[in-house]
Amino acid sequence: MDFSYCAYLVSVLFILCCYLLQVSVGIDTITSSQFIKDPETLISNDGNFTFGFFSPINSTNRYVGIWWKSQSTIIWVANRNQPLNDSNGIVTISEDGNLVVLNEQNRVIWSSNVSNIASNTSCQFSDFGNLVLLESTTGNILWQSIQQPSDTLLPGMKLSINTRTGKSVKLKSWKSPSGPSVGNFSCGTVEHLHIIEVFIWNNTRPYWRSGPWNGGVFTGIQTMTVAYFFGFRGGDDGEGNTNIYYTIQNDEEFFIYHLNSQGKLEETWWDDEKKEMLVTWTSRESECDVYGICGAFASCNSLSSPICSCLRGFEPRNIQEWNIHNWTGGCVRRTPLQCERVNNKTKSTKEDGYLKLRMVKVPDFAEGLAVTPDICRSLCLENCSCLAYSHEAVIGCMTWTGNLLDIQQLESGGLDLYVRVAYAELDRGRNKTIIIVSTVIIGTLIVVIFAYIIWRRTSNHPAKLWLFTKSARKKNNKAFQRFKKGGSPEGYASDNVFGEMSQVKLQELLIFDFEKLATATNNFHLSNKLGQGGFGPVYKGKLQDGREIAVKRLSRASGQGLEEFMNEVVVICKLQHRNLVRLLGCCIEGDEKMLMYEYMPNKSLDAFIFDPSKNKLLDWRTRCSIIDGIARGLLYLHRDSRLRIIHRDLKASNILLDDELNPKISDFGMARIFGGGEDQANTNRIVGTYGYMSPEYAMQGLFSEKSDVFSFGVLILEIVTGRRNSSFYDNDHAPSLLGSVWIKWRDDNILSLIDEGIYDPSHHNYISRYIRIGLLCTQELAVDRPTMAAVISMLNSETALLPSPSKPAFILMKNMLNPNGPEECQSGSSINNISITDIYGR
Ligand SMILES: *[C@@H]1O[C@H](CO)[C@@H](O)[C@H](O)[C@H]1NC(C)=O
Ligand SMILES: *[C@@H]1O[C@H](CO)[C@@H](O)[C@H](O)[C@H]1NC(C)=O
Ligand SMILES: *[C@@H]1O[C@H](CO)[C@@H](O)[C@H](O)[C@H]1NC(C)=O
Ligand SMILES: *[C@@H]1O[C@H](CO)[C@@H](O)[C@H](O)[C@H]1NC(C)=O
Ligand SMILES: *[C@@H]1O[C@H](CO)[C@@H](O)[C@H](O)[C@H]1NC(C)=O
Ligand SMILES: *[C@@H]1O[C@H](CO)[C@@H](O)[C@H](O)[C@H]1NC(C)=O
Ligand SMILES: *[C@@H]1O[C@H](CO)[C@@H](O)[C@H](O)[C@H]1NC(C)=O
Ligand SMILES: *[C@@H]1O[C@H](CO)[C@@H](O)[C@H](O)[C@H]1NC(C)=O
Ligand SMILES: *[C@@H]1O[C@H](CO)[C@@H](O)[C@H](O)[C@H]1NC(C)=O
Ligand SMILES: *[C@@H]1O[C@H](CO)[C@@H](O)[C@H](O)[C@H]1NC(C)=O
Repeated sequence: MDFSYCAYLVSVLFILCCYLLQVSVGIDTITSSQFIKDPETLISNDGNFTFGFFSPINSTNRYVGIWWKSQSTIIWVANRNQPLNDSNGIVTISEDGNLVVLNEQNRVIWSSNVSNIASNTSCQFSDFGNLVLLESTTGNILWQSIQQPSDTLLPGMKLSINTRTGKSVKLKSWKSPSGPSVGNFSCGTVEHLHIIEVFIWNNTRPYWRSGPWNGGVFTGIQTMTVAYFFGFRGGDDGEGNTNIYYTIQNDEEFFIYHLNSQGKLEETWWDDEKKEMLVTWTSRESECDVYGICGAFASCNSLSSPICSCLRGFEPRNIQEWNIHNWTGGCVRRTPLQCERVNNKTKSTKEDGYLKLRMVKVPDFAEGLAVTPDICRSLCLENCSCLAYSHEAVIGCMTWTGNLLDIQQLESGGLDLYVRVAYAELDRGRNKTIIIVSTVIIGTLIVVIFAYIIWRRTSNHPAKLWLFTKSARKKNNKAFQRFKKGGSPEGYASDNVFGEMSQVKLQELLIFDFEKLATATNNFHLSNKLGQGGFGPVYKGKLQDGREIAVKRLSRASGQGLEEFMNEVVVICKLQHRNLVRLLGCCIEGDEKMLMYEYMPNKSLDAFIFDPSKNKLLDWRTRCSIIDGIARGLLYLHRDSRLRIIHRDLKASNILLDDELNPKISDFGMARIFGGGEDQANTNRIVGTYGYMSPEYAMQGLFSEKSDVFSFGVLILEIVTGRRNSSFYDNDHAPSLLGSVWIKWRDDNILSLIDEGIYDPSHHNYISRYIRIGLLCTQELAVDRPTMAAVISMLNSETALLPSPSKPAFILMKNMLNPNGPEECQSGSSINNISITDIYGR
């Protein structure tokens, strides 16, 4: 064979190969002089994404786009609506600095469309399949493909809506599998009265909705359990944009969401073994996923037949249509509501009630409000136009006033929905005699109790009651003026906690007489002292009626005037939660300020977990429920109480245990009482305890809810390991508890940390999970730490995928923890237990 013929063959083969495999040019940047030509491509650094020219299946048109691994997973298309009809296209940077696609005649058929570009630009194809247009000199990003999604949502890509401008970023479906031009379906974020959801629209008509987003998952998607918790993130970015996006834990779990041309959102995972994308979820699992298929006041259940049924107390609007499975007309109420009848001036009967629907996708058009479940319920009952409510820990209260549309019965996930119905509907099927009998019994009981109370009142020092109130009134006259005005500070709507209470009751609740307290505590005798808290000593006292109380005698450092002090006490008195110690009242006399709390016989948590003789009393189950209770109390302070109180001194000695070992947080609101101010994020006065203070707070005085999360994380680790964080101060060179947990965690050797007394192999997974959550809460950067709401979700779910924690703060504690110079440092090991209330003030 002739040599030249052989060379010819080789070169032909080479060209063929290049053509078949698609030529990947050895660049990752496009500039005005460096361009790519059909069929050249760019490959991202990690080799997983490709940018270049392609033709969809069954089409000869050429498009410029990005795909993942193979051309069957196109994730982004540039010239969607302007296909190239030959293979002479070019991608380059145009004279105006934009990234453009040119056709054979050098006409711009697509442009990145950034206006007024001043300097030279270049375009880079980065990992994560993102095409970025940069200013060459400064590196400023002018445009990125992930901000202009096609029909695929990638990790980190944001679906957003701007509530001010109405501008939105949505996915837009292809017209057909072979035509990338913009089709009829789109998918985007909606925010309506604080409720965030994702919708798919068919043109402008809603086609599917996700149900309200609770900060982690969409409550209307049944397969979306907490495992997705760290999947979906977002919220308001402070510039009016409401975003929803997801992240992936690592490259092995690559998955995307793809809106197909049929309007179905598909979650697809990359199967590395089969080398293909597998569909793991779609937005159209059943007929019930079609928006509003059953009409108003009906619920869709894909497992029953027919799938639509009216809610209890409702009947089909048009029974003929309903019977031929045309459900769009929906249902109407069978028995009018009582409040409607009252308005119609007919005779009033029994009050309306609620029917509970479990595990449903709640209806569309919810209105959100951050209040507790009880307030939510009564707000709805009071307002005749409120037809249903639901409460979710993170979203808060949701109420509905119009048609209840798009309710779906789920098998898992979902929320409980309470639908308002007339009493008669509620009552159907119940045994009337039982009701009559129980009414009689309850009525009699009430009468007896009232009689007893009145008898006690009048027989039990009537004069003294009068004297007490009078003298108290005199002493605290100014403060009383505040109470009469309603007691709550400006800006907070009075939530009627005290609305119905008589003045006498209010006074009794709040103002205690100094002598009375002195007597109760045997003149603050040392033998009655329970401990020394951060804000002063605490004494045990016994009131004349036998009630036991704890009296906190505040140190005199409080910089507040009488009026502010009283205000704060009233505010804090209103906070009631089973995991908060109840404040019963206060006492002011001269310089003395005291607070009265309910008495907790079991003292504080530190007396158990750090005491070798007692720590066996708290088995693992109890410890879990203690951690859970603290988390709930803290969540209440942070968001449910409406005051958004930051505790700022959470620690084991501030967690009291009642007789059933339920945890109760004490000393909350002290920062308010001590004039720290809750609305400023930076304070000169550092209140807190070394070992529990977050770095930003200890060093810069910056506090936020995340500082409490930090302290809570330390608490978790202390409770699980049975060791004090601060005990590690004893040794200069040893890392803190956080440091050693971190090291052991990293080395996968947490067992050596766990108190042998409580170690239980059957709970190993739990233990390691709690440690992980503790580490997540104590991460150095406040933004990395989860919120309390997220913590509760993580604690409550055995399956949630938790992210990996980054290094906690204070790996080496000594030098960092010293806002005030070296002399404080010397006392390192002695400050274990003492709150720093007043670093500069005294
Ligand atoms: C591509 O993706 C796989 C997972 O699908 C990941 O393991 C890998 O690190 C990525 N990069 C490369 C170069 O393959
Ligand atoms: C491509 O065309 C063939 C023949 O017309 C058809 O059978 C096939 O379903 C088409 N594929 C797609 C994805 O449309
Ligand atoms: C391709 O499209 C151009 C306009 O974009 C048109 O002028 C040309 O005739 C088309 N060629 C073919 C073969 O359809
Ligand atoms: C670019 O902007 C022009 C006008 O501002 C608009 O008509 C055109 O559709 C835009 N092109 C793209 C690809 O967004
Ligand atoms: C852009 O780059 C060209 C050549 O690299 C240079 O001549 C020109 O001055 C640059 N323009 C700007 C605005 O920087
Ligand atoms: C898109 O909607 C229009 C009506 O708005 C309809 O005529 C057309 O057939 C729809 N296209 C597809 C692919 O469903
Ligand atoms: C989308 O809406 C169009 C009318 O706007 C309708 O013809 C079509 O059937 C709808 N598509 C689906 C999948 O419901
Ligand atoms: C279903 O009922 C509605 C009225 O409630 C009517 O407008 C619609 O045409 C009906 N659809 C069918 C398919 O019969
Ligand atoms: C109230 O009265 C109006 C007119 O009198 C009537 O149309 C309406 O149905 C009544 N509402 C109820 C709930 O009975
Ligand atoms: C009842 O609720 C509606 C809708 O939320 C609201 O506009 C109205 O002011 C409320 N009425 C009362 C008396 O609170």
